[in-house]
Amino acid sequence: MRSEFLAYLAALAHGVAAQSGLPPTVPSNAQVTKLATLPRESWTIDQPFTEGATRDPATGDVYFVDQNSNKILKWSVSQNKLSTFMHPAGYSNGMTFDKNGKLIACADERNQLWEISTNVTKSVPWPTPANPSVGARGSGNVVLPEWTVIMDGKYNGKQLGGPNDVWAMPDNSLYFTDPYWSRRWWPSGRQNQQEVNTVYRLSPDRKTLTRALADFKTSDGKAGSPNGIIGSPDGKTLYVAAFQGPGSGGGETYAYDVGANGALSNRRLWAQFGSDGMTMDNQGNMYMTAPVSRAGVTVVSIATGRQVGFIPVPESPANLAFGGVDQSTLYITARTGFYSVKTNVKGAHLVK
Ligand SMILES: *[C@@H]1O[C@H](CO)[C@@H](O)[C@H](O)[C@H]1NC(C)=O
Repeated sequence: MRSEFLAYLAALAHGVAAQSGLPPTVPSNAQVTKLATLPRESWTIDQPFTEGATRDPATGDVYFVDQNSNKILKWSVSQNKLSTFMHPAGYSNGMTFDKNGKLIACADERNQLWEISTNVTKSVPWPTPANPSVGARGSGNVVLPEWTVIMDGKYNGKQLGGPNDVWAMPDNSLYFTDPYWSRRWWPSGRQNQQEVNTVYRLSPDRKTLTRALADFKTSDGKAGSPNGIIGSPDGKTLYVAAFQGPGSGGGETYAYDVGANGALSNRRLWAQFGSDGMTMDNQGNMYMTAPVSRAGVTVVSIATGRQVGFIPVPESPANLAFGGVDQSTLYITARTGFYSVKTNVKGAHLVK
């Protein structure tokens, strides 16, 4: 009896250690490697802030932003090299690839969604900034990736709060989170015009914008701030993270069933963790950004919503994505840095 109890305590202690150690999906000798440190550019007053990591399904290359310098960057996995993909870039924030291989970006400068080509460029007059007192103002023409505004930044004729992160569904519809964080690249004095900050859906033909959730409350009944968003590979479940909230791991994340015409139902509190960006592996785990005080990636079992491990990162991550030719490297955007760690698994949303 007593020895059984001791064995139980030992198992419990082991469980706790396993949760706070590296997850089983990362080799025990794995190193989190810094691939790049972003410079503070002359046209910004802020430190770089890397965000929006996503991978090109055709190549495994990883795209991410430094929102503060108004750039989209590209990490080439074949050349192990970082380059500027787009600047200016509409102060893009969260991004994802859609099923047609187009890069979809939350272009925060005017609260729009953009669809960006990875392989066609055009020469355009330098784009007019929304707030003329902020940022680089080029002159003449600039060669940029070809892009289209697919959502004009308004719902019911009123300015959105600020699309933050976006997910492309198998049917080509897009879901995005719309919190409100005032930005210095917005025209000064801009107020939140929406009565709720929630989740929206853009229809598969990209013509109709609907509120996917009437509101977005955390489990204590307070208005939550929706942030990270991701769908299961079959498109049947959508996960939305509340950046802050009463969850014991910081924030909360909810799961929803995705029904006909994209209706979301059966909301459940899936995990006691929130996240900025998040990503999934093909073994049933979610990778979530831990609160700033913990600086790392919280790995959570999708089946149970419980932590199965933790990957410490030198700076506090804001987003992450599986990439690389075989999709088994986890790339992490964290403050001024861009990091990677090799894993034993692959991303859930596999390369074609
Ligand atoms: C450009 O990229 C898209 C999406 O990956 C692809 O379908 C298309 O064939 C590419 N076009 C060229 C000219 O490489």
